[in-house]
Amino acid sequence: MHQHLLVSDADHFRVEDEINPWMDRADQPEPAAARTEHEALVAAHAAAGRAVERLPSAPDCPDMVFTANAALVRGDRAVLGRPPAAREGEIVHHRTWLRERGIVAEEPPYAFSGQGDALPVLGDVLLAGYGQRTDARVHPVLAERLDYEVVPLRTTSPAFYDLDLAVGVVDPDRLVAWCPEALDEPSRRRVRALRGRGLELVEVAAGEAERFALNLVGDGTTVTMSRGCPGLAGDLRSRGLVVHELDTGQLAKSGGGVRCTALTLDAPARPGTDREAA
Ligand code: ARG
Repeated sequence: MHQHLLVSDADHFRVEDEINPWMDRADQPEPAAARTEHEALVAAHAAAGRAVERLPSAPDCPDMVFTANAALVRGDRAVLGRPPAAREGEIVHHRTWLRERGIVAEEPPYAFSGQGDALPVLGDVLLAGYGQRTDARVHPVLAERLDYEVVPLRTTSPAFYDLDLAVGVVDPDRLVAWCPEALDEPSRRRVRALRGRGLELVEVAAGEAERFALNLVGDGTTVTMSRGCPGLAGDLRSRGLVVHELDTGQLAKSGGGVRCTALTLDAPARPGTDREAA
């Protein structure tokens, strides 16, 4: 899993609406550097053997480089994101793209940050964020529509406006890195309880999490992550993983990193639940 990804491009990337605390209109990304940075991420995915698909960004969508917020995809089904108003325009492009590939994408009835707040682990378990960009009432929809067992996790600060800044799935079958301080106490207990089901946990300090350490793509073999987070990078290498560290300084001006720019397309459906099988 995480070996088939949908990315966009940084051609229209800019800071327009300050919809998270990392964004400052007075501190714009440098266009050429942002494109170079994004292309380096795509090249790193390809070098790791991942198949990368492209959806060109639209000129009126300054945040469209962050494809992760557009949907959560499992098998041939998806639940679309329902982002803040400033990003609503992105969704139609994703819906069309998914539909053209035979993926039926449904609109959720409440605010939903897509994969930004929805991280599958252990096959059928979904770590599902709420409290910032996602309304918890969308969780039953994800459970029903995509056949996941939802573990609700509340992020407590707008700095962690999406769960993918607080939790990084290194190996979906086995290993998750996380920043306990970013979650409320009941959520921490729910994360720790997953150890009883075979999930290993690596803790990351808030300082590194705030440098987007956890906003990583991990397929169980290779971890693609932000440069400047030596604690986590070293820990993962000592566990035998291949770690690629990349510059994400331009994306960081919009509050994003590696994981935000890649929507996973290969989360396997629960056996027997594909539409064809139904
Ligand atoms: N500027 C974007 C926003 O605030 C960044 C989104 C990053 N995405 C993510 N999955 N964390 O919506």
